Amino acid sequence: MRVLNFGSLNIDYVYQVDHFVQPGETMSAASLRINCGGKGLNQSVALARAGVETWHAGCIGAEGLFLKEKLAAAGVNTTFVRQVEGSTGHAIIQVDRKGQNCILLHDGANGRITEAFAEEVLSAFGPEDVLLLQNETSCVGHLLARAAEKGMRVALNAAPANERLKDLPLERLRWLLVNEVEGAFLAGTEDPEEMARVLTRRYPQTMLVLTLGIRGSLAALGEERVRMPARRVTAVDTTAAGDTFTGYFLRGALEGRPLEETLGLAAAASALAVTRPGAADAVPAYEEALAFYRA
Ligand code: RIB
Repeated sequence: MRVLNFGSLNIDYVYQVDHFVQPGETMSAASLRINCGGKGLNQSVALARAGVETWHAGCIGAEGLFLKEKLAAAGVNTTFVRQVEGSTGHAIIQVDRKGQNCILLHDGANGRITEAFAEEVLSAFGPEDVLLLQNETSCVGHLLARAAEKGMRVALNAAPANERLKDLPLERLRWLLVNEVEGAFLAGTEDPEEMARVLTRRYPQTMLVLTLGIRGSLAALGEERVRMPARRVTAVDTTAAGDTFTGYFLRGALEGRPLEETLGLAAAASALAVTRPGAADAVPAYEEALAFYRA
């Protein structure tokens, strides 16, 4: 079994700031770091570090070749990472004193995934394989529908939340992973228990995985609920915490591990990630995540 992650690749420009820049304000950043990122890339790195055979598909511009190299160095198969005309996707990320972030995205090459490319890639995968998607590229709806038709299990990390999400055939998902913002956007309520109730009724075949920051996480399928508290750590940079959670969660889910253990390991891995700066570089290795989970 392989996981095909058809996802975004971004160059992250990370500015360390005292506070997020306000309307009308001009402010100097304390530092700038240029990192490998994109929810897709980060999740592929997390899957690979968690020990899952991972194939990444996506598009970059010429200046983004180092992103492909980053994936390959993490052990991800990059056969379907394609160079296209135009610029690579990028993100402008402010990280404040508390380690919180806010992110401005430019799609770039992530928006140039075509149905023809999607079909070409999917033809190399079958019902035993799993497709992972995020909402940061073009063609997500087509990929989801076609992979489900082929009998592949599909997971979606529904980030970022935008109107495009509501047009997707989410009822065909095996796993839907959302944070509080995305969950509220889809369910129309900010109460996590209510979100779980609304979304499990709307998508009865889909496991909902809700990450709630310091309030932990919740998995829900039908009437079943499993809750996991967050690990207490000092946050340096929360970028890619959700991506790390997604990669580690899928490892446990695909191995058929108990949900408590799957959520617990994912929570431990993402807690370690927030103690470090950066996105893909912050994802811990499996042995490290496991040791922290057991500690
Ligand atoms: O989830 C974090 C990621 O979101 C960053 O790496 C940035 O590129 C954006 O895609």
